[in-house]
Amino acid sequence: MQIDLDTFSAMFDGPDLREVSFLGGRPRFVLRSSMFERDELESLCATARAIRSLDAHEQGARLLERVLHRKRVLHLFAQPSTRTCESFATATARLGGSARVLQDLSATSFVKGETIRDTAQVWAASFDLLVLRHPDDRFVLQCAHSLALGPHTMPMISAGTGTLEHPTQGLLDVFTLLDSLGSLDGRSVAIVGDTSRNRCARSLATLLSRFEQIRIAFVSPPEFEPEQALLESLTARGVRVELHHHLGPLLAAHGESLDAIYVTRLQQEWDEGEAALLGTSPGLVLDPGYRRFLRPSCRILHPLPRVNELPTEWDDHPGFLIWDQVRNGIWARAALIATLVGADAGLREATGA
Ligand code: NCD
Repeated sequence: MQIDLDTFSAMFDGPDLREVSFLGGRPRFVLRSSMFERDELESLCATARAIRSLDAHEQGARLLERVLHRKRVLHLFAQPSTRTCESFATATARLGGSARVLQDLSATSFVKGETIRDTAQVWAASFDLLVLRHPDDRFVLQCAHSLALGPHTMPMISAGTGTLEHPTQGLLDVFTLLDSLGSLDGRSVAIVGDTSRNRCARSLATLLSRFEQIRIAFVSPPEFEPEQALLESLTARGVRVELHHHLGPLLAAHGESLDAIYVTRLQQEWDEGEAALLGTSPGLVLDPGYRRFLRPSCRILHPLPRVNELPTEWDDHPGFLIWDQVRNGIWARAALIATLVGADAGLREATGA
């Protein structure tokens, strides 16, 4: 493929998204959650469920280990990470691959002026899959461009890029919700935090829009409301969207009708100076007193890390799913990797799914 970087990058934000993201029917560059349609999400969730049950016994675990037999995965994390990094490395190990984690780009030849194009070629000569977290979406697109140009190539999965996207977090959140609620059609979800910069919130909203009759109430500071393009893409998919600035009045009036609340941290690492304090204002904290407004079955999710926005008093709520999310991150990411290498149908069949 001889296509310049700008044209290639633009394909990820327009009608060519699926063409550039899939190869031969399999995901190749997983950079945007909007590349997935409902049937693909359901199939990924079915694969994640199959992997979870195979992993529970010796024979199944041996089958899983064949998926990435003799394959090497580079996990490049140029931003802090606990869950995403560990769950990708664990998913790789469960599938029998070897995981190399690279966190310090200053220990690479970038410091000698090597280009992203050349570096990505070197990585592709040594590895079979790239998992990449980076603060700059452009860096990620440049890597994908190099891999598309070749001669060396490999698939690539975003593990969170800039403020824009975190497709695998969205995937594990959908998996957790589907697993717990049974179905997502007709569900009402509140998404709390700075939805203009929180990539988890954005990716989840996009993936929820793949289901029918979804309602999303965004609760964010006025300056961090979801941007117009995201809102338009949601309403174009039939999502009923509401914007709020305070949790208390919303929950007092409509808490009973909510199926799930997705709480997120303010993304203050993008702020400079004084604004870069950790924590959020009372209007965006899920106060323990709000329990009386919710059904006991209302699911409580958070991508973690949490600061003050989800007090630990919620940890014993019957709908508290945070630790399920963490564990499901392994299965959802393993499912995506298995799908990428074409092993997913075999794994589902092995469990009769
Ligand atoms: C998030 C991230 O890095 O985007 N963490 C995660 O991957 N679970 C959320 C955050 O940092 O707020």
